[in-house]
Amino acid sequence: MSSVQDTAAMITNRAGAEAPQLAIVLGSGLGELADRVKEATRIPYEDLPGFPRSGVTGHAGTLICGFLNGARVAVLAGRSHYYEHGDAGAMQHPIAVLAELGCPVLALSNAAGSTRENMPPGSLMAISDHLNWSGLNPLIGTESDKRFVDLSDAYDPELRGWFERVAEAQGQVLHSGVYAWFSGPAFETPAEIKAIRMLGADAVGMSTVPEVILARYHGMRAAAVSVVTNFAAGMAGATTSHAHTKIEADKAKEGFIALFSGFAGTFAQS
Ligand code: HPA
Repeated sequence: MSSVQDTAAMITNRAGAEAPQLAIVLGSGLGELADRVKEATRIPYEDLPGFPRSGVTGHAGTLICGFLNGARVAVLAGRSHYYEHGDAGAMQHPIAVLAELGCPVLALSNAAGSTRENMPPGSLMAISDHLNWSGLNPLIGTESDKRFVDLSDAYDPELRGWFERVAEAQGQVLHSGVYAWFSGPAFETPAEIKAIRMLGADAVGMSTVPEVILARYHGMRAAAVSVVTNFAAGMAGATTSHAHTKIEADKAKEGFIALFSGFAGTFAQS
């Protein structure tokens, strides 16, 4: 694999040397935000060594550099999940490259199941903290004491506040809650959902946590928002299928796009 510096140079050669103010990772079925990027330079992941070769439907594989609502952004349309290959560190290289580019913020999105009756499909939830239920960690095998990352405020409270202010100004409800990472690809059992709910999870999903750990490892500030696509397994009205996830994510996309565009706008003003 080429070095982090080499991959970063490939990006700056095509998209310009100015660092993105924020990077955005798009979750399942949420790719349309990428179409809102202006003056876009689109770089297929195939051209970027160490970027994922996504085989999951609902996930493209393109890096889009340009402007979203006036902010310089790098949008990652497509991510690598642990369940694709069993490598929890699969996003190590792309996130290291973003850090190398000088990008200070990683804002992630995902599709998630809700464990709360008052947070139905279509809801948006700012992640306030996580439960790493998978027991995996993308930093296993990393050398140096830098690997002992502090995750006390992993989901940056100030950035969360910006999401909240944007949602309020747009008249959108933005829930706040704890996201539990399950490895997937099988969905959870009703017993697992019952347990994780008792342990404090408000939403469950198969991504984001390793990327947040990696962002913090690289000194980037992190924020994440879940788009609720279903009630979790065993709950009344629960539907757990990938097809359903994509359909519900698509239905929620307008609110999601408005929220992330508004969030980006706060960087344009800063
Ligand atoms: N569980 C795990 N991942 C998910 C779910 C779920 O219920 N919905 C969307 N992604």
